[in-house]
Amino acid sequence: MKGVVLAGGLGTRLLPLTRVTNKHLLPVYNKPMIFYPIQTLVDAGIKDIMIVTGGNNAGDFLRLLGNGEDFGLHQLHYTYQKTEGGIAHALALAEPFVGKDKVVVILGDNFTQSSIKKAVDDFGKQDSGAKIFLKEVSNPQEFGVAVVENGKVKEIIEKPKVPPTNYAVIGIYMYDSDVFNICKTLKPSERGELEITDVNNEYIRRGTMTYEFLEGWWADCGSFEALLRSNILVAKENGIQI
Ligand code: G1P
Repeated sequence: MKGVVLAGGLGTRLLPLTRVTNKHLLPVYNKPMIFYPIQTLVDAGIKDIMIVTGGNNAGDFLRLLGNGEDFGLHQLHYTYQKTEGGIAHALALAEPFVGKDKVVVILGDNFTQSSIKKAVDDFGKQDSGAKIFLKEVSNPQEFGVAVVENGKVKEIIEKPKVPPTNYAVIGIYMYDSDVFNICKTLKPSERGELEITDVNNEYIRRGTMTYEFLEGWWADCGSFEALLRSNILVAKENGIQI
């Protein structure tokens, strides 16, 4: 199983914090944000990891992470996203790295309190297809939202104005290598991006999407509020009184 951390994008929702650096290098309590999703993969037993980044600060990732020594790794792989094209566009760049393997994809601004190891092991045993995590949230309109019926995900709607459920699709996805063929069929959405939700809906159409509810908290750091919340959560976890 390969791991891919997506850390490109311009982070425009966090301007001016992201004017001179990449969002994923901003602090979350005592570490740069990207440390957390890498640790999530490493804790799940994934040691073959590629970082996809872009923009003006790509070299900083190499200086910060090197060969992954902070995580007990011997090597990290990197690739560069020249233009902004969305999550599925960034993922497509990892095709030569993933090859015919399965892959766990994690957004560089997402991480969890709980281990994803069991789900990753289960997906390893799954014949083919994909697996996602859902989490009940109070602000589903800010995420991909899943409609679940009879124990199956029926559809995912990206940032619906009127969410049909409270089940957010979190930014950790597991795919077989067919994901790269699906990425090639995608058309840009209204926000001009190749959407990971379109990839997931294709697996749902094929009947090969499984899901799990994530235990414990999940942090997404894409907005000021979310970034602040993540900092507080991690600080409290480290015994800091706030
Ligand atoms: C992305 C996905 C969305 C998912 C979210 C998780 O949103 O498009 O489906 O729920 O990540 O953080 P974005 O951060 O691109 O707005």
